[in-house]
Amino acid sequence: MKPKRVVLGVAGGIAAFKSATIASRLAQAGHSISVVLSENATRFVGAATFTALCGNPPVIDGFDSRYPLGPHIELANGCDLCIIAPATARILASCALGLADDLLSTLYLNLDCPVLFAPAMSTPMWNAPAVQRNVAQLVSDGHHIVGPAEGWLSCRRTGVGRMAEPDVILSACQEWLN
Ligand SMILES: Cc1cc2nc3c(=O)[nH]c(=O)nc-3n(C[C@H](O)[C@H](O)[C@H](O)COP(=O)(O)O)c2cc1C
Repeated sequence: MKPKRVVLGVAGGIAAFKSATIASRLAQAGHSISVVLSENATRFVGAATFTALCGNPPVIDGFDSRYPLGPHIELANGCDLCIIAPATARILASCALGLADDLLSTLYLNLDCPVLFAPAMSTPMWNAPAVQRNVAQLVSDGHHIVGPAEGWLSCRRTGVGRMAEPDVILSACQEWLN
């Protein structure tokens, strides 16, 4: 199996801690991973976790000077697969509308590879017509949605909105990773 270049976008939802498992599994399988954390994701998970798991620091700043052309360009070049997990209501909206209002949504517009979103949010947010419209737009744009699952939510309720488990997300990626 040829190692792939994977961008793992992590947005600011409570499920962000599970994305460390996704990063770890991809690293163990020998893939090269670039993690992009939204500013709000850093409130839930630390850069040090992804640095250690992936062997390189995550990118948070769209003006990161390690990327003279901009990380939104350099990380998109040669990318084989992009996984956005958790995908917050905010990043789904930004991508569906092509807003390019932060690093991840700007990078998204530069991608020429499969993009898989793993939405995670409360049940009312997931059921909101605006969120459903944005998800339908992303599917119609040719992207892939995994989950959300039903189960325990951090708002102390049970319902639909829980991020799909890391193994489910990775299984959904197998055809592109192999
Ligand atoms: C404790 C806490 C948990 C949150 N969990 C979620 C979530 O699971 N899904 C979601 O869409 N937003 C969630 N939010 C709201 C987002 O953090 C907020 O919409 C933020 O603007 C998302 O930014 P980002 O998409 O740039 O990371 C949560 C906020 C807090 C304070």
